[in-house]
Amino acid sequence: MLSGKTVVLAVSGSIAAYKVPNLARMLRKLHCHVQVLMTKNATNFINPITFETLTGTKCLIDTFDRNFQYSVEHVALAKQADLVVVAPASANVIGKLSWGIADDMLTTTIMACPCKKLVSPAMNHNMYHNPIVQDNLKRLASFGYEIIAPDHGMLANGDSGDGRMPEEWVLLEYILRELAFPKDMAGKKVLVTAGATREPIDPVRFITNHSSGKMGCALAKVAMLRGAEVTLVHGAMEVKAPLFVQCRPVVTAEDMFQAVEELAPQQDMVIMAAAVADYTPVTTASQKLKKSDGDMAIPLKRTQDILAWLGNHRQPHQVLCGFSMETENLLENSRAKLQKKGCQMICANSIAQEGAGFGTDTNILTLITPEKTEELPIMTKEQAAGEILTRLMQL
Ligand code: CTP
Repeated sequence: MLSGKTVVLAVSGSIAAYKVPNLARMLRKLHCHVQVLMTKNATNFINPITFETLTGTKCLIDTFDRNFQYSVEHVALAKQADLVVVAPASANVIGKLSWGIADDMLTTTIMACPCKKLVSPAMNHNMYHNPIVQDNLKRLASFGYEIIAPDHGMLANGDSGDGRMPEEWVLLEYILRELAFPKDMAGKKVLVTAGATREPIDPVRFITNHSSGKMGCALAKVAMLRGAEVTLVHGAMEVKAPLFVQCRPVVTAEDMFQAVEELAPQQDMVIMAAAVADYTPVTTASQKLKKSDGDMAIPLKRTQDILAWLGNHRQPHQVLCGFSMETENLLENSRAKLQKKGCQMICANSIAQEGAGFGTDTNILTLITPEKTEELPIMTKEQAAGEILTRLMQL
């Protein structure tokens, strides 16, 4: 995912430095070239050998105490870098960077880097809220540095407060957002629905389905990574919604319909990946179920067909895509749905095949448009999301 990219990890003196070797390892797994810069203070928290072993690259620490090769290295590295991530960024390094002080390898190199820079402050609550540090962060932001807000939680000294560096996977998501894909969807507004709706029978029970939300989240994530502005309307999910997408949690099919009705007119692309329960109980006070009711049938009514509504209210420029889950006659039934629901593409999903359908990390899809039927091989849901989005962009 990151092959051919160079990330400079700039590590300064904060206990949160212990998280960065794991981030370096995650980046290497994605085939990223990782170059670590450390302040002298950072070496009190983490041994440079840890980074050198994980990245296979010499750790750069000080401009003056190394040989010639390393003292000129920073200029070459600055040219090569696709992204600089200052993590953890101590109050001292934030202060130096914001005021143009370059007195060691780390600050000198960053100052020579023309690429985007992310800064992840990590310090004690009171230091973080010190108006001088806050001013310096604002100054860095005004020069185009992106500040990753620290988490609230338990700090190294046992106090609770702001200033905790986010988990490694969060930092990785920030990096992926910058580097993982070309931004061919920049300027596009995309609405994705995901997960399962829940239709309450009574205060305890509900009707639902097996949707995990994985396919919808993969679509939202890949669209976001490709630069789109993404809104995710989601029911119950087994997975966390991706970062950097606008989330609108809903419960019932009716809630989902209301959210979609409100949001769809502004979208360039709408993808219904949610598994909407087809029926909802008709609940009135007199129909509340009692334990003594035994085999009593629950009165049901059909839910609003959201995709069909979208098809009927499609904006001229809008691309509309739905999914279909079938146990038999997959292609025939899915083609009929394309027509019936008035969308441009149906992603047909056979739940009978191994490696496809609810809850799995992979999928086997057939993409159906009025002109074409294209069977995709088994692939991860993120890869499938990429294929779907590429085709929708071409419609
Ligand atoms: N869908 C919807 N609103 C509903 C039911 C389904 O918007 N009330 C959408 C789903 O999100 C999916 C597509 O319609 O994108 C097809 O869903 P599917 O469950 O396969 O088909 P149904 O229309 O429910 O028809 P059936 O269950 O009879 O196959």
